[in-house]
Amino acid sequence: MKKLRSLRWFEKDDLRSFGHRSRVNQMGYSPQEYIGKPIIGIINTWNDFNTCHTHFKERVEDIKRGVFQAGGFPMEIPVMSVGEQLIKPTSMMFRNFLAMEVEEILRAFPVDGAVVMGGCDKTTPGVLMGAFSFNIPTIYMPAGAMLKGNFEGESLGSGTDVWKYWDLRQAGCFGDCEWRKLEMGIARSAGTCMTMGTAATMMTMAEALGMSLPGASSIPAVDSNHKRMARECGVKIVELVHKDIKPSDILSRESFENAIVTLNAIGGSTNAIIHLVALAKRAKIPLELDDFEKIGRDVPLLLNLKPSGKYVMEDFYYAGGILALQKVLQPKLHNIKTVNLASLYENIEEAKVFNQEVIATLQKPFNSNPSLAVLRGNLCLNGAILKQSACEKRLLKHKGRALVYDDIQTLKEEIDKEDLDVDENTVLILKNAGPLGAPGMPEWGQLPIPKKLLKRGVKDILRISDARMSGTSYGACVLHVSPESYIGGNLALVKTGDWISLDVEKRLLEVCLSEEELEQRRKEFQPPRRDYTSGYVKLYTDHVTQAHEGCDFDFLVKDSPREGEPRIF
Ligand code: FES
Repeated sequence: MKKLRSLRWFEKDDLRSFGHRSRVNQMGYSPQEYIGKPIIGIINTWNDFNTCHTHFKERVEDIKRGVFQAGGFPMEIPVMSVGEQLIKPTSMMFRNFLAMEVEEILRAFPVDGAVVMGGCDKTTPGVLMGAFSFNIPTIYMPAGAMLKGNFEGESLGSGTDVWKYWDLRQAGCFGDCEWRKLEMGIARSAGTCMTMGTAATMMTMAEALGMSLPGASSIPAVDSNHKRMARECGVKIVELVHKDIKPSDILSRESFENAIVTLNAIGGSTNAIIHLVALAKRAKIPLELDDFEKIGRDVPLLLNLKPSGKYVMEDFYYAGGILALQKVLQPKLHNIKTVNLASLYENIEEAKVFNQEVIATLQKPFNSNPSLAVLRGNLCLNGAILKQSACEKRLLKHKGRALVYDDIQTLKEEIDKEDLDVDENTVLILKNAGPLGAPGMPEWGQLPIPKKLLKRGVKDILRISDARMSGTSYGACVLHVSPESYIGGNLALVKTGDWISLDVEKRLLEVCLSEEELEQRRKEFQPPRRDYTSGYVKLYTDHVTQAHEGCDFDFLVKDSPREGEPRIF
């Protein structure tokens, strides 16, 4: 076994080590309980504002139980938690903050291995980005999804059904009393959103990469199997430390290819593209936007989960969960390494599908088109994303006149005016919603359908922005336009009345203007004023990269002193 990193704090007979030991002893421990034992840092993304992680106080104890049973010594390390629902302006702004905190806190303390706990949207990429950069033995423990929602006997999905009923309410077809009942029934337990939104997608991606125990990502948060899985994380991480198996030993280009295949098969969140690019950069594995197109293009949609389908995560678990899905997908998956020290093929050997209504076969998928499309064209020179499985088919090839808003406030003020000049062919565009423009690239991309159209029964129109959208959202929303408008990408040059053309089959998104006209408008372009001179938002806006590059900080993806060693000791 490699010499434990934590011994550098505790084993010497000098004044400094005396201080370290005496302060652990202060908590009532004896030196023989922790010196020479793998010390496991449990990164806990719990706080009361992260309503999806309320069970983490309990789960951390389950992980500790496993660590003790395996002969390790657990230490809980609470970190910033970026719960999606209550944070402003957007949790995406703080993903990199969390990643920095995880990396630096693991570096700063006597930790030999880590269990990183995440689930609610950005917590998963945040903790993994930090762990990949620091690169000591690590297991990811997914929060698991909450129970399915319930409204008068109807099964509800987070986000997806809220948007649906909100549109009905806007159209005058859903009363106040029903709306209140919906509010009480949509989120019924601890755990993440239970549709295939960003949280469920990223938990699944972590498992597809090989970073969680087999089957972990689809266990509902409140199922007793979830507690057992947490304990096993504690047991297994001690073994990983003994064998010195680090993320760099698990991750490979093949792991990321598996993640892309899985992402398309589950109809996963568009946000995963940004996060996977960022994670690959942290792991120093080449991955580009075009890889999502090349690798994902022949992967059909196999899961019948909202927002692309009918069911939710709980149903997926009962149908066999991620292991059953991976079994179906096996011909398209590499036999990668995983943190349970068995290969993927070994992990899925016994897996079975119990309900083909939820998990389809490769021969008879729910949709033979890939769920995600990477678009190119003069409106998005560095790419844009569309979740084609979640939009109306008539819009997959579409030409319409643009209705352009420079900012979200004006859009909100004007979108429901009765005299708004729109019809079902209008292309609604929002600028200045990208990583720098907003800043933080909020989930504004599911731009609202004008009330005037909702009342006429129009349920989808083509919408384009440099924002993201919630993974629980749906509709013909082109997202992540890069370069973003704030820095003068061509999206900034579009005006109301311009013709916009989308051809998903050809992966083409264009504004129908000549290069000369674009050049003329480029000369006139003035970025909106920005006044961030201090604090984290200054750091963020000075260093965040564009959507196609993963929105990480430029200085964190360059070669810097990492690989596990403290810079100052
Ligand atoms: Fe936490 Fe959706 S709000 S996962």
